[in-house]
Amino acid sequence: MTATFDLTGKVAIVTGAGRGIGRAVAMGLAASGASVVLAARTAEQIQAAADEIQAGGGKALAVPTDLTDTAQIERLAAETVSAFGRIDILVNNAARSFLRGLMDLREDGWDKVFNTNVKAAWLLSRAAARTMMEQKSGRIINITTVGAEKAELGMAAYGCSKAALKMLTRCMAREWAIFGIQVNAVGPGLTRTEFSQPIWSNPDIAKLVTAHLPLGRIAEPEEIVPAVLFLASDAASYMTGETIYVDGGALTT
Ligand SMILES: NC(=O)c1ccc[n+]([C@@H]2O[C@H](COP(=O)([O-])OP(=O)(O)OC[C@H]3O[C@@H](n4cnc5c(N)ncnc54)[C@H](OP(=O)(O)O)[C@@H]3O)[C@@H](O)[C@H]2O)c1
Repeated sequence: MTATFDLTGKVAIVTGAGRGIGRAVAMGLAASGASVVLAARTAEQIQAAADEIQAGGGKALAVPTDLTDTAQIERLAAETVSAFGRIDILVNNAARSFLRGLMDLREDGWDKVFNTNVKAAWLLSRAAARTMMEQKSGRIINITTVGAEKAELGMAAYGCSKAALKMLTRCMAREWAIFGIQVNAVGPGLTRTEFSQPIWSNPDIAKLVTAHLPLGRIAEPEEIVPAVLFLASDAASYMTGETIYVDGGALTT
């Protein structure tokens, strides 16, 4: 993708960077000049993305990480510093969900969603913030969703977790502003990835969903990236605690 903001010399961590929106974000950060550390559980996917960045002349490192394991979260931050010397940008993108009504959702399902979508974002942000505080600068960008604002059927655990992540964004922004750390969020609408495949791959459901979207179609992963690059760049020097929705107008309906 075309570089919109200059991030030359910056070091970024992207979670869930093996596919979908996270992969597109990693590519966008690399195209803007950042060195990128890619994290997810599936080693082959993040390695393939890192190889692609390196083949294009960029710097990248794949660090297989299960974000539900605190020791692996700490290791991810430590390996980033040992490979590239600093952490300027953290994109908390990895997430999971279950399509299940509240009466059928299992208790461990709720915990898995919250552990991945909220607790891991807090723990990794805290680990990265230690380095950012020493640097007196850093940007944290959390990927939320329109589902943090709108109650979507069968998505209660996910929506609640993302609403919590939106609040965590504000809390971190407030507590860490004095250390030069800015924390914002990007909230995509429905985007064509593996995550949302059950929706867009079924023509009947896809038609129903897109009929309610002002822009009349779902997003491609690359369309979420510019908002992340903006928040990571000097252009966002006076923004913190905010969520930018990239949703084709979904929240207007
Ligand atoms: N697609 C949409 O319609 C949509 C809409 C709004 C918001 N979003 C948000 O956008 C973000 C990316 O979604 P996506 O659609 O790109 O999803 P995706 O294609 O399913 O990718 C999710 C990524 O998260 C990683 N991940 C999940 N659990 C993990 C764990 N425990 N440890 C490490 N990595 C983990 C996955 O890698 P492994 O499985 O290899 O670990 C994968 O790389 C999410 O925050 C999602 O909530 C998506």
